[in-house]
Amino acid sequence: MQLQDLLYSQGFGTRRVCAGLVQQGLVAVEGMAAVQPSTELTATDGLRFTVQGTPWEYHAKAYLMLHKPAGTECSQKPSAWPSIYTLLAAPLRQRPVKGGQPGVQAIGRLDQDTTGLLLLSDDGQFIHRMASPKHHVPKVYEATTADALTEAQIGRLLAGVVLDDDPKPVRAAAAEAVDTHHLRLTLTEGKYHQVKRMVAAVGNRVTALHRSTIGGLVLPADLAPGQWRWLRPDELQAVRLPGPA
Ligand code: URA
Repeated sequence: MQLQDLLYSQGFGTRRVCAGLVQQGLVAVEGMAAVQPSTELTATDGLRFTVQGTPWEYHAKAYLMLHKPAGTECSQKPSAWPSIYTLLAAPLRQRPVKGGQPGVQAIGRLDQDTTGLLLLSDDGQFIHRMASPKHHVPKVYEATTADALTEAQIGRLLAGVVLDDDPKPVRAAAAEAVDTHHLRLTLTEGKYHQVKRMVAAVGNRVTALHRSTIGGLVLPADLAPGQWRWLRPDELQAVRLPGPA
């Protein structure tokens, strides 16, 4: 792949802009200054380069995790809060996507006030598979409740509760009271406000919500709220696993 095409594929602008960056001496590959936009490179995942001094890694497809902070919306066009997309490096939002919107997309949504693990990708098939209700990828939520949890509430969450938009009951794959006001809930579906509505349906209320796990991938303790990073190949495998449910 030519260097200018590689930069274009990673979201550094049009091919012409990318060629200009190289010609102006603003690009280095594996520590070596590059001057020819047409330089042929073997583009393998993890290839390191810098653009205007900013380090970057080549990834044919983007698979990322973000620690979503509270007070952000999972939307490109947010209504009241800043978009989670503003937390990402600019090239991630500009990567060309064949036949689609440029840039990575969040896989599913978390509410404005929910924190925790969110995946993003530009791989349409992966997004579809992960978001599809058919795939039942388990997700673990840590909910703080307004009232002390009771055994009856846990039992009802496991047995299934009816939400207002569907007569078919939804049940938690796992539910445990970690503490008097700390509920750990595993869900394999992703209905709108599902945790909050399930908890309300059993007579309690969620006051804070955090997603800790998707499939077999746990939000790393060293990824601070607002930070993102590339998924490692083993982590990408792990999100497809059945996880702890
Ligand atoms: N369930 C909710 O109620 N909110 C979320 O953000 C995610 C799951």
